Amino acid sequence: MAPSSPRRPAEARLLQDFGPTALITGASDGIGRACAEQLAAQGFDLILVARNKALLDDLAFTLREEHGVHVRVHAADLTDPEAVTTLLETTDALPIGLVVAAAGYGSTGRFVDQPLESELAMIDLNCRAVVALAHRFGQRMQARGRGGIMLFGSLVGFQGAPFSATYAATKGFVQSLAEGLAVELRPHAVSVLSVAPGPVGTGFASRAGMTMGKAARPERVAATALRALGRQGTVRPGFQSKALGWSLGMLPRGMRVLAMGRIMQGMVGKTSSTAGDTISKSVS
Ligand SMILES: NC(=O)c1ccc[n+]([C@@H]2O[C@H](COP(=O)([O-])OP(=O)(O)OC[C@H]3O[C@@H](n4cnc5c(N)ncnc54)[C@H](OP(=O)(O)O)[C@@H]3O)[C@@H](O)[C@H]2O)c1
Repeated sequence: MAPSSPRRPAEARLLQDFGPTALITGASDGIGRACAEQLAAQGFDLILVARNKALLDDLAFTLREEHGVHVRVHAADLTDPEAVTTLLETTDALPIGLVVAAAGYGSTGRFVDQPLESELAMIDLNCRAVVALAHRFGQRMQARGRGGIMLFGSLVGFQGAPFSATYAATKGFVQSLAEGLAVELRPHAVSVLSVAPGPVGTGFASRAGMTMGKAARPERVAATALRALGRQGTVRPGFQSKALGWSLGMLPRGMRVLAMGRIMQGMVGKTSSTAGDTISKSVS
């Protein structure tokens, strides 16, 4: 793992261990955007990736003005494997010491009621693109002898989640991938972190058709994640994800799945009564 002295200021530590350039997917909104803002403030040059070029251009302009850093914009739909390959090729020569793979989306409701294309595209974005990024940058960082890769799991990734089944499965995949890679790459001074939040107040919920009660702020999640990079393998930002993770962790896996179904039931928009019936039948 990259050396980190507690005496070094946090800003200097990140830039020294993971600079000079960070590539951030999902940088147009939410947690990815918050990571971009905080890394620019710490002096990182950035490559911002998402589909919405106008939002990325605006953010790039602001970050250049405010922090004097170099910012490139790469608009791409990462559900498309060719777009991922193009991203890897065009960034090959850049001194990227940190990858923040925040692009992702979820869905809610009964699995069989979801459009298959959207569920499969979710796997392409949340899993396939993440593997491609981790593979190429893992190789490059290993050769360089330092670097960091931040992947996004979730509270729902530690067991099955009724009414968000595919999404939870993608996050279980990412959690497992991050844990394995962290051990493989640690001897090469490359840190791999899984960030596993509970609900965060971003555009994620509306895209997933979800209503969230209490939700962590994306800025707090980003700050916690960046602090944990190089120090932990998994971080659960926010009180809610820690408390829920702790209480669910006490249950056997089957009970955890049902409890997660209850939690999802309270978050699923229109289909909540159907969700409630299904859970009641599963318990009885
Ligand atoms: N919010 C939560 O409650 C929560 C909880 C646990 C884990 N997470 C995870 O944390 C990560 C960040 O989530 P968030 O809350 O910040 O979500 P968000 O606010 O919805 O942001 C998602 C980002 O991903 C980008 N994106 C979506 N589809 C894309 C595609 N096909 N190709 C390229 N980029 C794409 C979006 O930009 P464009 O639309 O411009 O492409 C946006 O920048 C995700 O992996 C999510 O699963 C979120």
